[in-house]
Amino acid sequence: MLRSFLLYLSEREAPRKLLLRSSLGRRLAARFIAGEELEDAVSAVRRLAAAGFAVTLDYLGESVREARQAEEACRVYLSILDRLVAESIQSHISIKLTQLGLAIDEALACRHLEAICQRAAQYRNFVRVDMESSAYTDATLRLFRAVKAPRDVLGIVIQSYLYRSEKDVQELLKDGARIRLCKGAYQEPPELAFPRKADVDRNYVKLMEKLLLSGHSHAIATHDPRLIAATQTFARAHGIGVDRFEFQMLYGIRRRLQEELLDRGYRVRVYVPYGRQWYAYFMRRLAERPANLLFLLRNLFRR
Ligand code: FDA
Repeated sequence: MLRSFLLYLSEREAPRKLLLRSSLGRRLAARFIAGEELEDAVSAVRRLAAAGFAVTLDYLGESVREARQAEEACRVYLSILDRLVAESIQSHISIKLTQLGLAIDEALACRHLEAICQRAAQYRNFVRVDMESSAYTDATLRLFRAVKAPRDVLGIVIQSYLYRSEKDVQELLKDGARIRLCKGAYQEPPELAFPRKADVDRNYVKLMEKLLLSGHSHAIATHDPRLIAATQTFARAHGIGVDRFEFQMLYGIRRRLQEELLDRGYRVRVYVPYGRQWYAYFMRRLAERPANLLFLLRNLFRR
């Protein structure tokens, strides 16, 4: 109930404006977001890299409705790639296609993604296309295939809550795609997605096994200790070394677990979001664990 309500709010304009403007909102969001400026993100990346983590940077923004905003997002991503190289900072980037204009015009988003991939290829960096709600799954996969970027420059995300994902994974693997597997963070109808968490998790394990057996390098993105253990057990049983996949987790979530995995020799990449458009991302994090709402409020009043 609360999850659905928070996801509903994540797409509403009035609470977005309210929270983005308030200092309370900013303080609450700080747990999940590296900051509003690139400088904040760069500091976070340096800190994480010094501790041994790999990173992927996300310049927050989505559901862009004006071509001007999509162009600006593309420009920011190009400048991030330049900055990473100029300062020898090791970090991939993660992008939402609706931030590059997918909801306005597919061709526009495609041009932007192509420009970003070209720059990333020049620097031997890697671009991950995040997967958004099911309204965009087909278009996202279409663009992923249409953009002429080598598979070690451009990767995609698959969500285990969607019924279609098994077929999508099969096709993507034939194509040599590098996949980040996650459970899925949006509100989806039972006609498209497993309504029960147990089924989402079961499907996650099934897809994880296909990815690990494929021989390509994929990302297992979850904070769920049972799914992490299932991945470790499967990899060991099939002689798949720790260099053949990586775990990925979100900035600010289960930090101890992130460190434990690193200590045990696994590769761990942290997804670091930054920027002023943090509202929808923040609401999805609250929806994943509504207890966060109480926790955050309690800590706020304790300060
Ligand atoms: P689950 O939700 O079952 O959580 C397992 C445990 O992790 C919880 O018990 C709790 O301890 C902790 N936890 C999880 N979320 C938490 C939170 N918000 N706050 C505090 N604790 C929390 N989704 C998507 O649709 N498209 C995408 O492109 C991506 N990309 C992406 C990248 C990376 C690196 C990660 C880790 C995740 C995504 N996701 C995503 C989000 C993903 O789909 C999913 O919503 C979250 O990861 C939560 O699911 P878990 O697998 O962590 O399991």
